[in-house]
Amino acid sequence: VLALAVVWSRTEPARIGEVALPEYGADVQVFGRAPWVGGQPLTLVRQRFGTNIQCAPLEAPSLSRVQLLVRPEPTSLVLSNVGQLPMLHDGRPVTQLTARAGDVVQLGDELVLLVVCRPRSLPDVALPDALVPAFGRADAFGLIGESAAIWELRRQLAFAAIRDDHVLITGPSGSGKELVARAMHRLSRRVAGPLVTRSAATFPDGLIDAELFGNARDYPNPGMAERPGLVGSADGGTLFLDEIGELSHGLQAHLLRVLDAGEYQRLGDGRSRMSRMRLVAATNRGAHALKHDFAARLRLRIAVPGLDDRREDVPLLARHVLRELAVRDDDLARRFFQGGDPAGEPRWTARLVAALLTRSFTTHVRELAALLWDAMLHSPGDILDVPRSAAHRRAAASPDPAPGDEPGAHQTPAHADPGTLDAARVKAALDECSGVQERAWRMLGLRSRYQLIRLLRKHGLSAATRKPRPSPVTGG
Ligand SMILES: Nc1ncnc2c1ncn2[C@@H]1O[C@H](COP(=O)(O)OP(=O)(O)O)[C@@H](O)[C@H]1O
Ligand SMILES: [Mg+2]
Repeated sequence: VLALAVVWSRTEPARIGEVALPEYGADVQVFGRAPWVGGQPLTLVRQRFGTNIQCAPLEAPSLSRVQLLVRPEPTSLVLSNVGQLPMLHDGRPVTQLTARAGDVVQLGDELVLLVVCRPRSLPDVALPDALVPAFGRADAFGLIGESAAIWELRRQLAFAAIRDDHVLITGPSGSGKELVARAMHRLSRRVAGPLVTRSAATFPDGLIDAELFGNARDYPNPGMAERPGLVGSADGGTLFLDEIGELSHGLQAHLLRVLDAGEYQRLGDGRSRMSRMRLVAATNRGAHALKHDFAARLRLRIAVPGLDDRREDVPLLARHVLRELAVRDDDLARRFFQGGDPAGEPRWTARLVAALLTRSFTTHVRELAALLWDAMLHSPGDILDVPRSAAHRRAAASPDPAPGDEPGAHQTPAHADPGTLDAARVKAALDECSGVQERAWRMLGLRSRYQLIRLLRKHGLSAATRKPRPSPVTGG
């Protein structure tokens, strides 16, 4: 169902992440402060597995008791503003709004809401305590998020971790694959064993077999020390190979035997050895980019969602990133945190949070961190705001009507200016989306697929059309 998520609150910032779930089939519902007895109140909940925890009504004094009337429709929430705070959409005041998933609705300078898609309740499954953080905080593995997508990830992680099959973690760059891989080891029965981590992108050319399988003394040259290799070192534990897509298909084939039976040989040593290691591999390319028989041996597949699939987590992630920086930097804590306390709430504008919520991310949490640095760099005072330069660029970018946009069609704000997207950026987005244009144009922040096709032509990139294909690995 469509729900309203709190993404910024001036008076009660600790409530970021709570959602109001309207009753479908019911009449108009009331959203406001300590809801009015005459109407059906829309209350906020925190969603956890098996329960929606009811929260107190909002307390902001400037919010009216009846601020919004909310009427749920199949694909939208019709919001009518009847309270004293103005309702803003795309920075413009409106009294009525047909709000769809992804829309950001601001109430004065008091509250920012995001329209999200949520299940009515999350399934009732038990998770290890380490995966259940205090609301809005990081769990024991550093994973932040209260969205349905991140809870589903935690569920799959708990399921896969205790099994012994090899694992493939997919997901866009910066989405948290490495966090998931480490959590996978720490939740597994191999936790007392080693976690050996290596990025396949950093393997030295020509020495990869020796890296993986080790070598005998004096092999290939006299004086070479004996080495166990990554496979031998991970015996009884987990071998985490990041960026596995960078390993050639030929070398992927070398791993088949050790994946099947644990058997391998060191270079220059004819003896067969055994390693009871579990491989956890990660890639931002999707399973289809791997050699098929290698991929077939990575039977447990976990797809880490990008920020587009868990937008309501963006302010939680941003707050987490800022807290981590401020803990190590007194100056940042003093300037950008209420009371100078880096464990507390950041001082940031509704405008900044809205801007972060409406853009598309190519490198996800990493990009979010870079944007926050940019905001800190350009905020001369002690409130984090949208960098002036970014606001300027957006204002200057004149909208480019595209044939794909039906007149009056719903549009998300803050589109990218196609003129600023160079060939490398476009190609990176396409690669990230495995060539699926329907996803790539959204990732680039364009208005339609037609804009992407024109960009492909302009940069002389292939415009072969690929329709999105639902896949259990990439999530479609
Ligand atoms: N859900 C999350 N909660 C908290 N931090 C996250 C989350 N996802 C990613 N990060 C942070 O984002 C950065 C990139 O994550 P990483 O696991 O290295 O991504 P990937 O391996 O997918 O490229 C890290 O600093 C990580 O701590
Ligand atoms: Mg990584």
